[in-house]
Amino acid sequence: MSDQAAKLRNLVEERAEEDALSRKIGELYFDVEDSTRVIAITSGKGGVGKTNLAVNLAVALQLSGQKVLLIDADIGMANCNLLMGSVANRSLLDLLEDDVELDDVVEDGEAGVKYISGIAGVEAALSVNRRAQKKLHKKLGDCSALADIIILDTGAGLNRNVIEFVLAATEVLLITTPEPTALADAYAVIKAYSTYTDRRNIKIVVNRIRDEEECAEAVEKINQTTEKFLGVTVDCLGYIFEDKAVIDAVHKQEPFVLASKNSSASRCVFELAKSLLTGEKMESVSAGWRIFLYRLFGY
Ligand SMILES: Nc1ncnc2c1ncn2[C@@H]1O[C@H](COP(=O)(O)OP(=O)(O)O)[C@@H](O)[C@H]1O
Ligand SMILES: [Mg+2]
Repeated sequence: MSDQAAKLRNLVEERAEEDALSRKIGELYFDVEDSTRVIAITSGKGGVGKTNLAVNLAVALQLSGQKVLLIDADIGMANCNLLMGSVANRSLLDLLEDDVELDDVVEDGEAGVKYISGIAGVEAALSVNRRAQKKLHKKLGDCSALADIIILDTGAGLNRNVIEFVLAATEVLLITTPEPTALADAYAVIKAYSTYTDRRNIKIVVNRIRDEEECAEAVEKINQTTEKFLGVTVDCLGYIFEDKAVIDAVHKQEPFVLASKNSSASRCVFELAKSLLTGEKMESVSAGWRIFLYRLFGY
């Protein structure tokens, strides 16, 4: 065999080994009771609203009577705690210490949501090597005892940390905005996960839309591509309106579903939570007066 062919074969074998390992880890680290749902929130492009959806959905589900645990799994760019209203004393990283257990890192967040703060900073992220990650995953195994629903705020894109957390989930919410770049990156994520045939429970959430049609158009664009190249289509869970209330709440470091309950973005998140709990289609949310002005005057 030529050198190049051997190299390629090694690469393929390595990949297969890694894939098998990822799958095993997925099963291992959320060794969940059947009743616990693990929902990963991810995206292709960064900055599209993962953290805001994770935090606000967690609060909305908790207010609907669920016991929710939010885990900030965006290793390196963790920032859930900024919106959770309290300073975290410990983080996922502390789980790497032998004498630190799950209970030690779980904090009380807004509205009774429990949360585990993430690992911020490039250096910290680099220290989460393969062995460390396995240790982390093992200790997270008991999470299901703490919650009916576990929400994972993962990073964007397709690096190994993100993929492993996403594969560990039972459901994946893929968040995008209607921007072409975000849609293209969302497609890349669907493509990557479509190889894990048994883990295709992905639903799209379109964030920052100006009207409902924008959501339908975005999903259609993604599905035209997935259908053509992957032979599958992906369901849409629903949408969140572009809303200044989100930006204001971020500045106040509060979840917008609490800071501005009746805003259009909050009403969307409550409907998304309801849809997740009932399995029914998200009910339409009216965008309100601002959107009327937008349509009328174009701003
Ligand atoms: N529905 C929305 N309406 C208005 N602004 C939004 C909305 N969703 C997100 N944003 C803005 O985008 C920023 C990034 O959101 P964030 O949730 O931190 O993204 P990610 O976690 O994907 O990086 C927020 O701080 C906010 O300013
Ligand atoms: Mg984030």
